[in-house]
Amino acid sequence: MAVHWCMSDDKPHAAGNVDTGDTSERVGMAVLRERGLEPEELREKLIDAIGAEFTTYYYYTNLRMHLAGHEDYKEITEDARLEDRAHFELVAPRVYELGGSLPNDIREFADRASCPDAELPVPYETEGPELDELSAEAILEVLLEAERCAIRTWSEICDMTHGVDPRTYDMAQRILQEEVEHEAWFVELLSMERDGEINPAGHFVRGEPGDAPYSTNRRFNDSA
Ligand SMILES: [Fe+2]
Ligand SMILES: [Fe+2]
Repeated sequence: MAVHWCMSDDKPHAAGNVDTGDTSERVGMAVLRERGLEPEELREKLIDAIGAEFTTYYYYTNLRMHLAGHEDYKEITEDARLEDRAHFELVAPRVYELGGSLPNDIREFADRASCPDAELPVPYETEGPELDELSAEAILEVLLEAERCAIRTWSEICDMTHGVDPRTYDMAQRILQEEVEHEAWFVELLSMERDGEINPAGHFVRGEPGDAPYSTNRRFNDSA
């Protein structure tokens, strides 16, 4: 005679705290709560963090354009710019998986960004920026401090998720790897530009502009 095991003994993960077929709850959130991480708090922090990635992508466009005469600086800034877009793209779906949504209003999104605006470091008059006051040195300093804010942001998210939320942790640590590289690039460039000092980043060009070797999601999802 066949022995019929109770399903919960045989397949311990077949059911849990979320009712069968209930789409108003997510097991992907419940398991975080069970491990002591509030998914709502995490996802709001993620929105702030990718708000900074998205606005930095915008601001770096303007900074890069004003590095005229420094093709090497422009190229490196372009890599950092495109990789910030990749960081936004990587994490945006995670906000929805955690039951959240992107702000409908881009102004709200920009305002809640977790890093300061990486603005062109000169006064802006109605006709535009006062370009005779602008220097590559000042732009490199803005770039450097933006990368440092990103390192602090993604380190905090790594700390929140380590050992609790492997999916968010994986994303955050990939982004952090690139932010640490970005800081090293701008340390090297600013050291030479401002102080005439050699301070190597160990960096050579990305294979393609904005290659995002750690954070891009295109290698496992061509449609993203
Ligand atoms: Fe970034
Ligand atoms: Fe960066």
